[in-house]
Amino acid sequence: MGRAILYFSLVLATNLATCTILFDRNHAYRSPFTEHPHLSHDTKSIHRRTAGHVRRQMQDAMEFDDKHYPGFYGSDFSNSPFVWNGGLNFTHSVASGDPFDTSIILWTRAIPVSPDGTSELPDQSVPACVSFKVATSSDFSGPAVSTGEAFTSYDVDWTVKVEATGLTPDTKYFYQFSDCTHPKSVSSIGTTRTIASPDTDADQVNGGKPLTFAVFSCSQYQNGWFNAYGVAAQNTSADIFLHLGDYIYESVGSGAGIGRAVLGRTLATIFDYRQRLNQYRTDPNLRVAHQIAPWITVWDDHEVADNAWKAGTTTSNDTGAGCKWSPSGACFTDRKMAAVRAYHEWMPIRQVDAADQLRIWRNFKIGKLMDLTMLDTREYDRDITSVGYNSAVVKAVVDFENRSIMGATQEKWFYDTLSESKNRDAVWRVVGQQVVFTQLLRKGSFSLDAWDAYRANRRRILDHLYGNQISNTVILAGDSHANWVSDLAYPNDTLNYNPDSGVGAIGVEFAGTAVTSSSSFGAGILPDAADAMSRTLVDVNEDLQWSEGSFRGFFTLTIDTHTLNATYYAMQNTSFANLDGFASAKFVVEAGQNKLSRPVAGGSVGAGVLKSQVKVGGQ
Ligand SMILES: *[C@@H]1O[C@H](CO)[C@@H](O)[C@H](O)[C@H]1NC(C)=O
Ligand SMILES: *[C@@H]1O[C@H](CO)[C@@H](O)[C@H](O)[C@H]1NC(C)=O
Ligand SMILES: *[C@@H]1O[C@H](CO)[C@@H](O)[C@H](O)[C@H]1NC(C)=O
Ligand SMILES: *[C@@H]1O[C@H](CO)[C@@H](O)[C@H](O)[C@H]1NC(C)=O
Ligand SMILES: *[C@@H]1O[C@H](CO)[C@@H](O)[C@H](O)[C@H]1NC(C)=O
Ligand SMILES: *[C@@H]1O[C@H](CO)[C@@H](O)[C@H](O)[C@H]1NC(C)=O
Ligand SMILES: *[C@@H]1O[C@H](CO)[C@@H](O)[C@H](O)[C@H]1NC(C)=O
Repeated sequence: MGRAILYFSLVLATNLATCTILFDRNHAYRSPFTEHPHLSHDTKSIHRRTAGHVRRQMQDAMEFDDKHYPGFYGSDFSNSPFVWNGGLNFTHSVASGDPFDTSIILWTRAIPVSPDGTSELPDQSVPACVSFKVATSSDFSGPAVSTGEAFTSYDVDWTVKVEATGLTPDTKYFYQFSDCTHPKSVSSIGTTRTIASPDTDADQVNGGKPLTFAVFSCSQYQNGWFNAYGVAAQNTSADIFLHLGDYIYESVGSGAGIGRAVLGRTLATIFDYRQRLNQYRTDPNLRVAHQIAPWITVWDDHEVADNAWKAGTTTSNDTGAGCKWSPSGACFTDRKMAAVRAYHEWMPIRQVDAADQLRIWRNFKIGKLMDLTMLDTREYDRDITSVGYNSAVVKAVVDFENRSIMGATQEKWFYDTLSESKNRDAVWRVVGQQVVFTQLLRKGSFSLDAWDAYRANRRRILDHLYGNQISNTVILAGDSHANWVSDLAYPNDTLNYNPDSGVGAIGVEFAGTAVTSSSSFGAGILPDAADAMSRTLVDVNEDLQWSEGSFRGFFTLTIDTHTLNATYYAMQNTSFANLDGFASAKFVVEAGQNKLSRPVAGGSVGAGVLKSQVKVGGQ
């Protein structure tokens, strides 16, 4: 009893501010915005809540004998009433992301389970404590390279997001979480890696071997099985996985026919967004893909809602009518905040800038081999996009100089980042972003939801690249549910750019098809029908060198100092779980050439249509 009282007074005596360290180590509490106390979770008050529960437990249970508790927030939590010690379930395996040269974000989820399988509900009034360790060997023999402990609680949906620091650049690591109170209760083991330090010579990056990225977009659960993630994880040697957005969808759809019904309703509240992310992450292929490599992600519209822009989506905005769409009465801003918070809880992504609320645009300097620049052309500060009923309005403004898909702050940062990358002699500039950049005339019209509707912004980027002679820029895009490979040049400029030779271009765009979302050529369209449309598309669009509209899939980028190669993968059938697929096209970009190498794709592809086939072969 004496010990219990001593412990009780320690609780009272300890400064609350310093007590939150294990809460604060879990970045999920800062979601969605670091250092915006009014928007993030107040870990001091969560701590006070916990201490209050403990005080009651102490008074109710004076028999409590704290043999193991060496001090407030010490390292041994067994028997401590401050944390749940009845067992944890690591329900969603592990994930890692946003690798830097000496640190990486590690993610897991740990929920309290009923002690000994009883039906008694676990006590959720106290936090759960997990510890993590990082090592260079898969059996964790030898000293751990980085370790730590962090709390989680229902406030953050039991997610855990910690930064493992003090790592060695360009190194592969193994990591695992465990229950602080029962160290033998552990999560799966994840593999991850750091990237090279910015000053590493280009030919020394990744130990001198090419660096490979797998690139995804548009993974709609109810529309198909995530076979693309499985093939990328099991059949390629991708080092880092990139997702260009539409990682989840807010809609419900009808997936039951293929065993992919989604839970819940159209997403509007924090509960909704968490439930959807939770369900997506039960997919075995997605889980494995997260477990084996670090991810670098950006969101597109569907992480919030269809055709989002800075002040609304197709169905919601902050006007009276725009708040009525949802049964819960969520207006656009509430909805967006809920979506952003859940995204930061569930995704292994870093908070970029404490002072800039919505910012996920960020840059990774991977030695002198490349800069990987991730943009947000969707949620951050995008001027109005087409949401269906306003097409005429958007059509009238596509050429306005004062219109931006990125917002002025991000635009300036992007130009500076491109220049800085050139000035530091990085060989490649790979730009991961959401929507198709190249001008695409389709059936006589342009998309009002892609760069074609933000033409001055696109021209400013091309001006910056041409004007400053910035070479080796490769833009990536998702969103469109089809494959488009193009030389990067001013639209319609066949005076300076030659579509046959590629001379005059300033870079390349690789736009990729969806993991599962239906083709924009028509849901379920077969290869022959899609190719008929592709023949016209490559014919009328000067910059477009390959078009393919039938297959779901992904692509890889394999990069060294001399070449950047893109390999497109086509999945045979996403209506059931399988790894059937094939490489549909391979493209080479030689450093310094600023165009697709000729003959494009070696002159032949396994799916879709090359411009050279239409021109040479006739129709
Ligand atoms: C742990 O969570 C998984 C996934 O939700 C579930 O299938 C399993 O039954 C849980 N195990 C326990 C012991 O609660
Ligand atoms: C807001 O949403 C309502 C309902 O969809 C729509 O009628 C209205 O035009 C929207 N307003 C704006 C400014 O987008
Ligand atoms: C943007 O430019 C257009 C066309 O020049 C002009 O009509 C409009 O007023 C401008 N909008 C703002 C907010 O400056
Ligand atoms: C390119 O030419 C087409 C066809 O004349 C035209 O519709 C389009 O607006 C032009 N694009 C730009 C960026 O001027
Ligand atoms: C790219 O492909 C070409 C042609 O197959 C090959 O010579 C080159 O080594 C490849 N480069 C990389 C980085 O894989
Ligand atoms: C895909 O698989 C399903 C289920 O086996 C089958 O019914 C369907 O015909 C297949 N689709 C194609 C295009 O082969
Ligand atoms: C991936 O590997 C599996 C198992 O080895 C194989 O069955 C499948 O055909 C492969 N898929 C692709 C796209 O290479």
